[in-house]
Amino acid sequence: MSNKSLTCLQKGLKGSVQVPGDKSISHRAVMFGAIAEGKTEITGFLPGADCLSTIACFQKMGIDILQKGDKVTVYGKGWSGLNEPSEILDVGNSGTTTRLMLGILAGRPFHSVVIGDESIARRPMSRVTEPLRQMGAEIDGREDGTYTPLSIRGGETKGIHWVSKVASAQVKSCILLAGLQSEGKTTVEEPSLSRDHTERMLEAFGVEVTRDNMTVSVEGGQALKGRSVFVPGDISSAAFLLAAGAIVPDSEITIENVGVNPTRTGIVDVMKKMGVSFKEKNKRDVNGEPVADFVVKTSNMQGTTIEGDLIPRLIDEIPIIAVMASQAVGTTVIKDAEELKVKETNRIDTVVSQLKKMGADIEATPDGMIIRGSAQLQGAELDSFGDHRIGMAMSIAALIAKGESTILDTEAINVSYPTFYEHIDKLRGTEN
Ligand code: S3P
Repeated sequence: MSNKSLTCLQKGLKGSVQVPGDKSISHRAVMFGAIAEGKTEITGFLPGADCLSTIACFQKMGIDILQKGDKVTVYGKGWSGLNEPSEILDVGNSGTTTRLMLGILAGRPFHSVVIGDESIARRPMSRVTEPLRQMGAEIDGREDGTYTPLSIRGGETKGIHWVSKVASAQVKSCILLAGLQSEGKTTVEEPSLSRDHTERMLEAFGVEVTRDNMTVSVEGGQALKGRSVFVPGDISSAAFLLAAGAIVPDSEITIENVGVNPTRTGIVDVMKKMGVSFKEKNKRDVNGEPVADFVVKTSNMQGTTIEGDLIPRLIDEIPIIAVMASQAVGTTVIKDAEELKVKETNRIDTVVSQLKKMGADIEATPDGMIIRGSAQLQGAELDSFGDHRIGMAMSIAALIAKGESTILDTEAINVSYPTFYEHIDKLRGTEN
């Protein structure tokens, strides 16, 4: 287990970086390439542990995938090119791999076993196993298919109209991927719009997708055609640097090439509401996904309320938003965010317990948290609990804390941002 010691920065963060590729888009590019006919060439791929788990799983199903850094080539052979794996499909720490892959496996006429790490074993899978069973897949698993390990035998499935209780792109994508292999039409309705990378990328791969507000449908029997995919930088990774730029005194940093899909830019709305001094520049469209550069400066921030439809648009950013809120004047209330409890860790508990250790005035609520700003944070021993975003959020908090902080288990950060500390060093001017 690797730990990291950090102290309060003596000077501001300056300069510019490009964050690594978007995790959600990288996963989808590999999976869609694997089920498509012909070659898919990906650039800007995130070589983080989660996306490497996706590659390994599809290789075990007989797909040739070559990966070197951020370049990946996938030699898809169509839906029927996937073979029954002779080994267990290990998803590591990745919920996206688990849930989207189950949607693909639901329509494949073979047996497979899906397993992950101890965090995955705690995450609810009935939100996908239930609709997939109704579509006709045979699924078994711990607590009747609620948790991994899961076994699945796919085959002839039927379209479904599924009303999801949660706004989850993983659930929506899983069902749509099963639907593409099913008889008839499949529709997913969600309570608020979750990220729509699946819809956009399926269209780019030649699939017809019908969208109407919070409802999305596909007809079964559609094939995907391999293509080139450019993956923009991950706004969820950029969020840590945006927050660092806002809270570390005397900072001004540029983050280039960040994906700004509107289903992901809740963090931008919150920064505006909090009064963060930032600019979005060079907005452009790359492969059906909007991209921009950000410039952020040290800011005086105010507390805000974050709730409702905004939550799915920033769900992964809440740990770092809590750090920003601890430095804002006034109170920040985060509600409607029960989903935080079923992420890589229970992020209500982990954020609140770790920021409390640093002296923040923060309390957990059943569906979020309340943070009263502007406490002087104190260095402390902080645990990532194996959750990449907790490790990064606490590392940023440590940069403004009095005294030394040690962050335990920082290896977890490799899941989504393997070059995180290199980028911090670059911006603080201590790069070798
Ligand atoms: C993701 C969807 C979100 C997000 C996760 C990635 C995806 O999860 O938290 O990091 O790529 O579809 P949910 O769909 O479960 O909300």
